[in-house]
Amino acid sequence: LFDVLINHIRRSPANFHVPGHKQGQAFDEAGKEWFASVLQLDLTEIGELDDLHHPQGAIWEAQRLAAAAFRAEHTLFLVGGTTAGNLATILHLCRPGEEIIVQRNCHQSVFHGCMMAGAKPVFLPIEFDHNGMEEPLDPDSVRQMIQKYPRAKGVVITSPSYFGIVQNVREIAQVCHAHQMPLIVDEAHGAHLGFHPRLPQSAIDQGADVSIQSTHKLLTSMTMSSMLHTQGERVKIGEIMRWLRMIESSSPSYPLMASLDLARRWIATRGFEELERLLTSLDHFRGNVKNYSFIKEVSVLNPRDPLKLTLVADHGVSGYAMADWLNKQGIFIELADHQKVLFVFSVGTRESDLVRLDRVLKRLDEEIPRFPIQPRIDFPRFSIHTQAKVEFDELRRRQRRWIPLSSAVGEIATEMITPYPPGIPLVLPGEELREEVISFLSEVIRLGGNVRGIRYSGTPSVEVLV
Ligand SMILES: Cc1ncc(COP(=O)(O)O)c(C=O)c1O
Repeated sequence: LFDVLINHIRRSPANFHVPGHKQGQAFDEAGKEWFASVLQLDLTEIGELDDLHHPQGAIWEAQRLAAAAFRAEHTLFLVGGTTAGNLATILHLCRPGEEIIVQRNCHQSVFHGCMMAGAKPVFLPIEFDHNGMEEPLDPDSVRQMIQKYPRAKGVVITSPSYFGIVQNVREIAQVCHAHQMPLIVDEAHGAHLGFHPRLPQSAIDQGADVSIQSTHKLLTSMTMSSMLHTQGERVKIGEIMRWLRMIESSSPSYPLMASLDLARRWIATRGFEELERLLTSLDHFRGNVKNYSFIKEVSVLNPRDPLKLTLVADHGVSGYAMADWLNKQGIFIELADHQKVLFVFSVGTRESDLVRLDRVLKRLDEEIPRFPIQPRIDFPRFSIHTQAKVEFDELRRRQRRWIPLSSAVGEIATEMITPYPPGIPLVLPGEELREEVISFLSEVIRLGGNVRGIRYSGTPSVEVLV
């Protein structure tokens, strides 16, 4: 696709189609300096450039090459991120009123998919350790849920998690398939998996029916570009494409699609050697972290992605405070919560970046005893119910009102309440607001965390059912 795009540009000195910037000829002067090369690639479905929603040429070929590289049967390029892939897959699997088994701490897009499809999510319970790191699902709990909800249209899990915890996809897939259910893995954080023996295997390699990967997160394509991989007969690729035509723009971005093509070529041809270099540098870096006095890497017993590093500090120092301090030194990280900070590395991380980070973290480590001490707050348990109290569809018909968060115990939430990042809804629409969740959210807001679904100009307030 990239080669076809470049050939096209060489053959076409002027164009008489959209987009109106005409490959950058009309564009803000100050912006031009930064955008110029990308604007040249920003074309539309003309000449040999094919059509994402009906691919027969260069895009078809690029997707075929991606399927081969990621060892899938089919691969679709997504220009609406993994969000679009989650939505389209759930819309394909579920009709209104049908059940789907969903890991309770899935990304919000999974729940949005259920809302759009009118599906009833039933939740796989999930446990967290004292650092707020999730415990992987027990395949037996998946089996029990399938036995309880045998008519469910599929099982949706997340692997790896934001913090890099990897599920036992192989066994979960076997359980699902023994009951003729498709397994969908939100692998937004796992596009690099399977490209080096020291990394966990990818979901597709372990038997998942669908895996949706944010190629833009851990590999090298542009933001908003993802891939959806499928194998087997339990899902219909043509049906997923039909839903994608409804969800995504009818003018998909060529820079995004070409960047997916290049990310595929890069990881397929250079992946092993680049990952080898990165993993060796990270071993050395982690060795240095072990020598810090107050800051520690959160250790987990379960398999995890070595490209994620989660740090906590002694003395009850919050992740928000550490992230603020790091921002002031020009170090911007993926995520902070009340306990910890998360660093994401990738094949784009250079040795010199790690040397600088180590230097700054050493200084942070020395500063930690002077940080204000926070009382410990534990991550609340998710609701133990396997279904929301009020279903999504009924919620739309009921009246709502805003009330202070502090007086909302026992009320039914109408919107997702989602600390962001990581974007995992703590409360779903239709769920009861429990006391422990409210005190946790109040504390997160007080410490400076961002919570979607709460209005916090003045007193934090929340929308509930009348
Ligand atoms: C687990 C998970 N799934 C899906 C998404 C959405 O991915 P995208 O940003 O590619 O739409 C995210 C984004 O953070 C995520 O963390």
